[in-house]
Amino acid sequence: MLKPLQLIKSRYLIVEQAGSGGFSTVYRAEDTLLGLPVAIKVGNAGDALPMRREAQFLASLKHRSIPQFRDFFEHRTTWCLAMEWIAGTCLHTTSRLPIRQVVAVGSQLCEVLFYLHHRTPPIIHRDLKLANILLSGDTLFLLDFGISSYPGLNAFLGGSRGYAAPEQWLQTDITPRTDVYSLGMVLYRLLMGRPFPVPGDSTTHVKGEHPPTLQPLVLSPGSQPLLDLIERMTRQEPTHRPDVTDVWQELKHIADSDGAAE
Ligand SMILES: Nc1ncnc2c1ncn2[C@@H]1O[C@H](COP(=O)(O)OP(=O)(O)OP(=O)(O)O)[C@@H](O)[C@H]1O
Ligand SMILES: [Mg+2]
Repeated sequence: MLKPLQLIKSRYLIVEQAGSGGFSTVYRAEDTLLGLPVAIKVGNAGDALPMRREAQFLASLKHRSIPQFRDFFEHRTTWCLAMEWIAGTCLHTTSRLPIRQVVAVGSQLCEVLFYLHHRTPPIIHRDLKLANILLSGDTLFLLDFGISSYPGLNAFLGGSRGYAAPEQWLQTDITPRTDVYSLGMVLYRLLMGRPFPVPGDSTTHVKGEHPPTLQPLVLSPGSQPLLDLIERMTRQEPTHRPDVTDVWQELKHIADSDGAAE
């Protein structure tokens, strides 16, 4: 636990805690060498591997919707990842959005997922959820590469309840379409103003459990083309889901048509 005004690595001055999750705590800090604000993600003591993996992913990525990597270092018994500070609002605090805005959020997320899925080898984010998305001005930022991985790797890292695809629950092979499933859940949550009802504590991670049978999506008037798309994105069988390029195209189509009118 770091305290405000604490200086670490003789360089980063802690300002305040910005967030925390199951595996880490994030602080807003000032890089006193460069005079820039930074976010410092501090892993739980002991296990360096998850933080190193996240730092490696972030350091290899360059996209306007992904915070820039700044530093990775050890502080006492914990590992710290310093990255660009994003002054924004977490989508977790958002209520129901008009269809046009849901489509706009979906399109920006497709852009960043397209970038990740077309790298060699492709990167699967694996933890797409509102708590990992920040809105800064008109730009969305995708955070938290803490459980990101490559296709084919066994899904031993699980995923977030309410967003995780069946293959994450079952710990079978993940593919880029694992992210498409979670994106479908994100769009559902924004469209309906409530999470898709999944049994269990929504803050816990799924791991080696049988996925629940989900109820069919509840339809609301006026949003049919978008709900149809979400239904296909959240199919149980990954190969029955569209890929991110198809989703992006369909969202453009909905934006251009009356389907985005509220
Ligand atoms: N670069 C950043 N700029 C500003 N705020 C950030 C940044 N990175 C993280 N945060 C804040 O810290 C919170 C937690 O960050 P992150 O999701 O990376 O941690 P986590 O411990 O992996 O969370 P969880 O286990 O819940 O997924 C975010 O929801 C966000 O509010
Ligand atoms: Mg997170």
